[in-house]
Order: sequence, then structure tokens, then C-alpha cells
Amino acid sequence: MTQPAKIIIDTDPGQDDAVAILLALASPELEVVGITAVAGNVPLALTEKNALKICELAGRRDIKVFSGAIRPLMRALVTAEEVHGKTGLNGPDLPEPTMTLQDEYAVDFIVRTLMNEAPGTVTLCPLGPLTNIALALIREPKIAERIKQIVLMGGGYFEQGNVTPSAEFNIYVDPHAADIVFRSGVPIVMMPLDVTHKALTTRARVEGIRAINTPVGKATAELLDFFERYDERKYGTDGGPLHDPCVIAYLLKPGLFSGRDCNVAIETASELTMGATVVDWWGVTGRPANAKVMRDIDADGFFALLTERL
Ligand code: BDR
Ligand code: CA
Repeated sequence: MTQPAKIIIDTDPGQDDAVAILLALASPELEVVGITAVAGNVPLALTEKNALKICELAGRRDIKVFSGAIRPLMRALVTAEEVHGKTGLNGPDLPEPTMTLQDEYAVDFIVRTLMNEAPGTVTLCPLGPLTNIALALIREPKIAERIKQIVLMGGGYFEQGNVTPSAEFNIYVDPHAADIVFRSGVPIVMMPLDVTHKALTTRARVEGIRAINTPVGKATAELLDFFERYDERKYGTDGGPLHDPCVIAYLLKPGLFSGRDCNVAIETASELTMGATVVDWWGVTGRPANAKVMRDIDADGFFALLTERL
């Protein structure tokens, strides 16, 4: 049997982050060596607590959870309670966690893991603003050549933005961190809004998850019931985009996604378009590719995988 692939999930839960974590923890192909929390959808005190709650929901008290950056590198924190609710995990009534955070700072954990594990064996899965990842790259630049790949949810090209007309939330919240990551030379797979806006939590798909009839299935359906309300109103669709689980699904079944290698640059200067991901999709700049930018998803295959695993 092949060894499970080692991943670190860097996250700001968030209902869709929670579903991504549940999918990873349910997948024997993956070994979650740690979960690192970052400020994003809600402040850090809540994202770190929410990460613990999700591990407990999954029955995985063995997972190590670390607390990371309390704010973006240069800008004030912007949160998204209008989407995720006051707690970040509004929906199900999850108990207060009894698991505790690790003592080590998330950034130190990321650096230590990458320096200790064999080069090219650890994948980073950022599901929130890229602050922790950028801080790790600054703290120990040698990690850049040891990271297997970074598979991240963030940005948009054809769909542009969701928090401003030109920027997606994760990149907008910490554009300077994103700039560092996209310039790092680490192989990057980017799951932008172009993909996630096609992964809709339609009523039939959510009911399919509820029908699993386990505590995890029921809680996931309740998370999605809450999460899709805001986006259904915003986009007028049946269901909302299920962003972050696309990252984990890519690791499990890359064939569900298609895209191309492009250069991606991050806007950090203009207040009007701050955090825009400038994707050279048509190869007009001559700048070298630094990311595999996904555009399409087999959404039915994605939800079938998620439902089977949960
Ligand atoms: C991203 O922003 C957050 O609200 C979601 O958790 C996802 O990571 C989508 O723009
Ligand atoms: Ca997220």
C-alpha cells in the first residue's frame, strides 16, 4: 500500500473550511500532519476554536491544531460574518471543544515540519488568507524548495471577485502575503472562484449529504444550509459555491479539475483593485508560469466524492 500523502491544512473556519477538513480527515490517502489556524472569515480566537470543534466532530482528537497569525501582514483584518455568521460556524449546534491547541506557534510548526520531513513530501493546503504561509517563507526561506506543492483556494480570473468587484476574499484580506507566496517559486495549484462558483450546494446535493444520517452528515448539511443562504441571495442560484473542499478533492481526484499553467501576479498597489489575481491566461505577458490555474470542475463527481467520504 502506498503511504498517505502528508498535508498541512491552513484555515480560517468557516463552514466551507470545515467541510474541507472533514473531507481530508475522512480520506485514507491523506495524512493531516497538522491544522494551522489563521484570522480570516472571523477573528483568530474563533477560527482556532472552530478548527478544534471540527476535529472533535470528526472523532479525531489526535489531530494537532496550531494557532497562527492574528492579522494580515500590512492591512487591517477584514472578516466575513455576513457570510459565515457570528461564530464562523453558524448552523449546527456543535459543543465547545475540550481538545486544546498545541503550544507551538503555527508558523514555527510549518517551518519545523518542512525542515524535518523529507524534501518534496509535504503539501500545504491554504484555505484562508495566506498570512501564515508567507510568514513561514519569510522566517525560513529554505522551506520553499522543500514544499511539495501549495494547493490553495483563492483568487478569480473569469469570475473576478466576490468581496470586491475585482478580488476574492482570501487574497483580498492579505494581498501582501499572497504576493509573497506567488513569488516563492513553490509549485502552486490555484482553485479560484472560476472553479468554486461551479461547485454549487444544490438542494439535492445537500439532502444527499443529510441522508448519510450520521452526526458528520447531519452537521455538514446544517453547515451548508446556513452557508448557502447568503450566496443564494447574492447569486440567485440553487445553492452556494462550496469553495475550500475543492482543494482537498484535487488531492484525492485531480481528474475532477482542469486548468492551465499561467503566470499569476497579485495587485497590492491600487486600492480600487486590491488583491486582484492578474492571471495571464492567454500568455500575453511572457512572464513565466508560476501556478496551475484551474477553471473547470466535474461538479457531480466532486459532490459524489464528498458524500461517499463523509
Ligand atoms: C473563500 O473565502 C472564505 O469566505 C471561504 O472560506 C473561502 O475560503 C472564498 O472566497
Ligand atoms: Ca476559508
